[in-house]
Amino acid sequence: MLFLEKFFNPKSVAVVGASRTPGKIGYTILENLKYSFNGKIYPINPNAIEILGLKAYPSVLDVEEPIDHAIIVVPAEIVLKVIKEGIKKKIKVFTIISSGFSEIGEKERELELKKLCKTSRKIRILGPNCIGVYKKDLDMIFFPKKRLKRPPEGFISFITQSGAFGSILLDIMANEGVGVSKFISIGNKVDIDEIELIKYLEKDLSTRCIAIYLESVKDGLEFIKTAKRVTKTKPIVCFKAGKTEKGVEAVASHTGALAGSAQIYSAAFKQAGIIEAKSSEEIFDYAKALANQPVLKDNKIAVVTDGGGFGIVATDTAINCGLELPSLENSSIKALKSFLPPYASTKNPIDITGDATVERYQKTLEIVLKDKNVSGVACIALMQIPTLTDEIVDVLKDCKVFGKPITVCSAGSDYVLERNRKLERLGIPVYPTPERAVKALKVLYEYGKILKRK
Ligand code: COA
Repeated sequence: MLFLEKFFNPKSVAVVGASRTPGKIGYTILENLKYSFNGKIYPINPNAIEILGLKAYPSVLDVEEPIDHAIIVVPAEIVLKVIKEGIKKKIKVFTIISSGFSEIGEKERELELKKLCKTSRKIRILGPNCIGVYKKDLDMIFFPKKRLKRPPEGFISFITQSGAFGSILLDIMANEGVGVSKFISIGNKVDIDEIELIKYLEKDLSTRCIAIYLESVKDGLEFIKTAKRVTKTKPIVCFKAGKTEKGVEAVASHTGALAGSAQIYSAAFKQAGIIEAKSSEEIFDYAKALANQPVLKDNKIAVVTDGGGFGIVATDTAINCGLELPSLENSSIKALKSFLPPYASTKNPIDITGDATVERYQKTLEIVLKDKNVSGVACIALMQIPTLTDEIVDVLKDCKVFGKPITVCSAGSDYVLERNRKLERLGIPVYPTPERAVKALKVLYEYGKILKRK
């Protein structure tokens, strides 16, 4: 796994095909790298002397110092040539951004790359046809920062077979304040695939949840075996795309892979302890809960709300997905009644009403989270009500001390989103609908069951 260290923590990086022209992919990669990476950067371009203030070299062979990682962003026709030069230079790891391989029927070209990996044995390749790696201190994404925000550091690591799907999700995560540890786009995975990356992330201390966008798996048995082991200690959530006949065809022309049937994948995920996301929304919803919250040890939850209707929708969702809303212990009900107004409801869902204050939330959540009948809480905090102040963010964050999972539904526009971002940064997963907040709790319950499996 040492070679993967060179992918994620290189000391020096060459950008082969670094462009002099703003707006081109090879320019943006160099720019993003320059402002994120602390090691040495070598732009490689036979037609340039200097790019973005960095000395450029005609070839990697002209660089005297060692190069750990080469990012290849030249047209597909010359990729093999520059890789061969890289091998001569003793570069061990390559990320190939270039498209133009098996996804367009250029199978021979891809086969040549594969052969190079096998025969030289000392090199490893990520891609081709990928976005590469993103982490806070190694940003090789070819989207300008002004157009695609970068997320804060966090605990989700994301493996994606589609560069676009993955990077747009990064933008959404950034906008919502959800933290990412590592992002890896694998493209056509001529060499490095999701299995090796899962093994690497299994041991990675800054990864608490592995999220995967998958179109195909080459070695199904090894994938299941690996995931089965990893999910015993770390959750994996996976969204399989290419499930319909037409979708399978689309996969072939996207990454040149064979997609396989939806039922087989679902069954395999189940066997491997992988949480299956059924939509692009779910992969994100589930990953942030799994990365930041403890599991739900049984199916008993409480709903705490300042909006009656939202509480009802949360309740219906919970029942429909197999969760229960038990009555609280008598002592809890008594304690709640001692400070809640007479028009509040102490039945589960607990409605602390539209004039709820931060203090009311704080006392209610403490009682509910200490209640023996309750294993987790879906808290609906509609921030628009006039009585609620910004301290609600701290109250919700402090709920972590009770060791039970909490998900929050907080719906609305700018004012609300600003507070939601703060919550996400503090590790509290927030959802714009009660259904999504409850389903995230359900997934924490599912993962709890997976952990109990022998
Ligand atoms: N070594 C290094 N650089 C070289 C070179 C060589 N042997 N030969 C040419 N270059 C330089 C070019 O001069 C150019 O720099 P310039 O703009 O300063 O002149 C630069 O490398 C790029 O070459 P160019 O021919 O202009 O290619 P391009 O930028 O139009 O396209 C790719 C290159 C890789 C971006 C394009 O082929 C491609 O694959 N695009 C799709 C990428 C993609 O979507 N990936 C998957 C995402 S999921």
